[in-house]
Amino acid sequence: MAEFYQINPTLSEEEKYKLVIKQTVSLIDESVPILSNLSNITALLKETFEKISWVGFYFNRDEILYLGPFQGKTACTKINFGKGVCGKSIEAGYTIIVEDVEKFPGHIYCDSDSKSEIVVPIIKDNIRFGVLDLDSYIPSAFNNTDKIYLERLVEILFEKLNLYKLKQIII
Ligand code: SME
Repeated sequence: MAEFYQINPTLSEEEKYKLVIKQTVSLIDESVPILSNLSNITALLKETFEKISWVGFYFNRDEILYLGPFQGKTACTKINFGKGVCGKSIEAGYTIIVEDVEKFPGHIYCDSDSKSEIVVPIIKDNIRFGVLDLDSYIPSAFNNTDKIYLERLVEILFEKLNLYKLKQIII
């Protein structure tokens, strides 16, 4: 178990992300199942950033994204490739920042209070593993700082975890 983790709310977003990255590295325990590690990472993000209303993973099986570990209200359990922000991000292969979900064609509402969103695809060697999805009740809550650090977080997942094992989990 990692040391007691407390975030000073007056820190800048960048400083908070730097702590999240450091804490992710120390939290990940390669001896426990991937889902245990990913569950803790969603909790880490949710407790660090008040702006996050929902954070979670979706995993790809046969071009359908299935709900994985998350923090927040109950959510859609499956999203087809090409649908919603998640389906568009995994298909396109890049991070999508949505400042106003009402203006994103095909945005899927899991929570009608959601105002903005960021989705980071989890892709390596052309294998589309899934996405990391964050929502906020605040309009335009996510920007390039979130993109940079969340993409770094996903890289750390690849460095520390054997995500290929996910294939055995989502059957
Ligand atoms: N809004 C997402 C659906 C997932 S929920 O936000 C948890 C989308 O449009 O893909």
